[in-house]
Amino acid sequence: MRTNDEEYVRPATPPDTSSWSQLREAARDCTACHLYKSATQTVFGEGPKRAPIMLVGEQPGDYEDVAGKPFVGPAGKILDRALAEAGINRDEVYVTNAVKHFKWEPRGKRRIHQKPNSREIAACRPWMEAEMRFVKPKLVVCLGSSAGQAFFGASFRVTRERGKVLSSKLAPKVVATVHPSSLLRQPDEMSRDREYARFVVDLRVALKAAGEG
Ligand code: URA
Repeated sequence: MRTNDEEYVRPATPPDTSSWSQLREAARDCTACHLYKSATQTVFGEGPKRAPIMLVGEQPGDYEDVAGKPFVGPAGKILDRALAEAGINRDEVYVTNAVKHFKWEPRGKRRIHQKPNSREIAACRPWMEAEMRFVKPKLVVCLGSSAGQAFFGASFRVTRERGKVLSSKLAPKVVATVHPSSLLRQPDEMSRDREYARFVVDLRVALKAAGEG
């Protein structure tokens, strides 16, 4: 059964503009779905406007919601380390999320991350499409299943497709890999090291496929 809030979902309507700043400004006021009500702010993408690689995460987390910037919390730290190890300079890639508002539920004083559903991902997709039109990346890296679903639909499975060079209507080349926060959830050091190494390998595949490696 849907709650009233879940009913409140329609596609975002980015303005028809050739200015990235205007686009970002417009995204600040997005009310296309109910997630804006409990988030601090819209977290838009950032990075060079002609970056060869665009990284797409799921949605801002607690830290990002407060800072207004993508991937600045614990997942961002491990992402930065892996990017550097793969030979990718974070300052040279555009980083964004499939969903631009933090979805969470309260647990005591904490805000616990909730996965966005397919309707919320679809509602937010026009913003990402608009970012794609500006940046025109040679390659997109989908970090986790929500980003993969934004590009390939709800049946997309990262476990099946990770590390392959795929193509989608939105981007000529797409490489999907796990979300960096999954590395933080590994049960022990051995699996953390193993999964981290696999993540770096996927990023190297992306760098090479973008013609940058
Ligand atoms: N997780 C994401 O998917 N994106 C962020 O910006 C931070 C954490």
